[in-house]
Amino acid sequence: MPDTRPAPAAAATTESQIAVHWREEEYFKPSPKFVAQANLTDPAVNERFAEKNFPECFNEYAEMLTWYERWQKTLDTSDPPFWKWFVGGKINASFNCVDRHLAKYKNKAAIITVPEPEDEDPVAVTYQELFVRVNEFAALLRDFAGLKAGDRVTIHMPMLAELPITMLACARLGVIHSVVFGGFSGEACGLRAADSGSRVLVYMDGYYRSGKLIDHKASAEIAVATAEKEGQKIDKVLVWRRYPGKYASAAPMVKGRDVFVDDVLKDYCGARVDPVPMDAEAPLFLMYTSGTTGKPKGCQHRTGGYMAYVTGTSKYIQDIHPEDTYWCMADIGWITGHSYIVYGPLALAATSVIYEGVPSYPDAGRVWRIAQRLDVNIFHTSPTAIRMLRKAGPDEPKKYHYHFKHMTTVGEPIEPEVWKWYYHEVGKDEAVIVDTWWQTENGGFLCSTKPAIDPMKPGSAGPGVPGIYPIIYDEKGEEVKAGSGKAGNICIRNPWPGIFQTIWGDRDRFVRQYYAKYNKDPKSKDWRDWPYFAADGAVLASDGYFRILGRVDDVINVAGHRLGTKELESACLTVPEVAEAAVVPVVDEIKGRVPEIYIALKPGYAPTKEITDRVIATLETMIGKIARPKRVHIVPDMPKTRSGKIMRRVLAAISNTLDTGDITTLANPDIVEQIRVAVQGKEKLKTQEGPEDLKQFGTVD
Ligand code: WTA
Repeated sequence: MPDTRPAPAAAATTESQIAVHWREEEYFKPSPKFVAQANLTDPAVNERFAEKNFPECFNEYAEMLTWYERWQKTLDTSDPPFWKWFVGGKINASFNCVDRHLAKYKNKAAIITVPEPEDEDPVAVTYQELFVRVNEFAALLRDFAGLKAGDRVTIHMPMLAELPITMLACARLGVIHSVVFGGFSGEACGLRAADSGSRVLVYMDGYYRSGKLIDHKASAEIAVATAEKEGQKIDKVLVWRRYPGKYASAAPMVKGRDVFVDDVLKDYCGARVDPVPMDAEAPLFLMYTSGTTGKPKGCQHRTGGYMAYVTGTSKYIQDIHPEDTYWCMADIGWITGHSYIVYGPLALAATSVIYEGVPSYPDAGRVWRIAQRLDVNIFHTSPTAIRMLRKAGPDEPKKYHYHFKHMTTVGEPIEPEVWKWYYHEVGKDEAVIVDTWWQTENGGFLCSTKPAIDPMKPGSAGPGVPGIYPIIYDEKGEEVKAGSGKAGNICIRNPWPGIFQTIWGDRDRFVRQYYAKYNKDPKSKDWRDWPYFAADGAVLASDGYFRILGRVDDVINVAGHRLGTKELESACLTVPEVAEAAVVPVVDEIKGRVPEIYIALKPGYAPTKEITDRVIATLETMIGKIARPKRVHIVPDMPKTRSGKIMRRVLAAISNTLDTGDITTLANPDIVEQIRVAVQGKEKLKTQEGPEDLKQFGTVD
């Protein structure tokens, strides 16, 4: 039984500790049926990937790929922390995801796209069809747009098959793609295009979202203007059409600059482009991510190491076989989509599902209908999506006849409460769950259970995956030991093939941000002196499982005790009426910071003082008086990004009467004023200059 006793030691924690209050949960075991078919069942993997076999252990992943020339050296550490992997090897990512499968699988679906309108049927692209379309578009990129290996291209597209086709066509030529999440604004796209030095943009004219055909091309104008303001001229905008031949945007096509891809492609019918053998260290793509400071950083990923790492982890952790129908609900515009919709699954010849629109439209059953219709057997999503689906339709999954063998959660800590709903209701007690912790910078998973080998523990990501040796350090650089109950900064002691090469154009920031904190000797060429600093808080249980608490700046310091916002939220979620919870720090004269709680209720419940009181009582019993919130606000909905993350930054700003900053990119900007009025009253209060930690709170994601 899980331990549900109140935390005994909350008041006794010392300054340097972060109080951690999620109870250790009982284990769940994978079913014999899952184990019987799994790719990785032999515990000898632990020995193979043990430190004494590092770095050569990673040859096992590289050998899953097809190389033009084998590497001479697995890891070169001569210029720390700029590690080089599979040195001397020559490889092409597009060849590995497409051409090499033709002999066996050419008539098998590579990508199935599910359009949002339910009267449009899903469309399957076979490996043969993918080969044709990638070749023709690569010919267009090379001969019409004049692109060659090493050039950068910025791609701003929704979730349709043309997006992975564009990426794979770039990879075929060695052109470095930079995909900007389709939901970002034109301005965000333009800034990234300028930073990467792209002179070509690839767009889609429109796409469906929540029942509306969105005019997406309109943002290209803003992107071009923004890039030009930054000194980057855009020569060409290549525009795919949602319906070839029928333009879905009101934005004018600029002569000499904008072209419809379906028009120009006619000239390349039947074209074949030999994949360019790329150096293993040649960059494959850039992925921009936000940091604590304003400017997004372009994480530069290499070809050989990245491909090896995503292929190996897709096989061992995602348990992907060529026969599987795999659906990751992430957007390809994020790292999860790159690694675990496109490159990993396709390198293994799986069928990868992508879908247009949002999970909750037209109703809360859509996700499960897709799973049923396509007979998806591997499912991959985020805690936010799980919470949202649970809120919108807790009983929906039951109504559909699908069977998952495997489910993934990624992106945030998952509350045990939510994990169990995922396991019992979505997974129908049949599917194994992996809680995978990693970051844009990392290329692939860092912590997770091995699904057929390690038992699952709700709320814990698990041990380091094969070949990853995590460690927790305190602020002084002392190791925080397993089972101590203390939290600290999780780091990875060793390099791995999926780690990014650098921040595009900013080597100093790369070293400063990720390695300077715990580097033992800046002159050392020994990788042991260069732990990777992940900027996440974590605790390590005595069983070797890591529990991730969130970004180090997502921690609330209450009277010298730091409380992970996630644990408070998890406690709130045990109150049966509560669907979603968000915790932010507010200034308290005595205690420094105290938590303030925002909750949204499940459908059918009205806000009452009784619920508020129960939330407070639950926090006090599950965590301790130290967690007593200043106030509890019951709100109609949370402010969310278009990818579904709750914007705690905005709530923290409201709670602390700070400037809410730019809210135009939210999915539901109108909710912000409603919440402000509910919290602060009708009259607009003068905003304050907040202390640094509050201004930073929730800005890293
Ligand atoms: C958080 C997403 C807890 C973490 C792949 C990390 C997680 C940040 C988990 C990276 C998880 C990711 N449990 N927290 N399983 N996975 N995170 O760059 O704080 O979008 O630093 O990469 O998400 O987010 P990013």
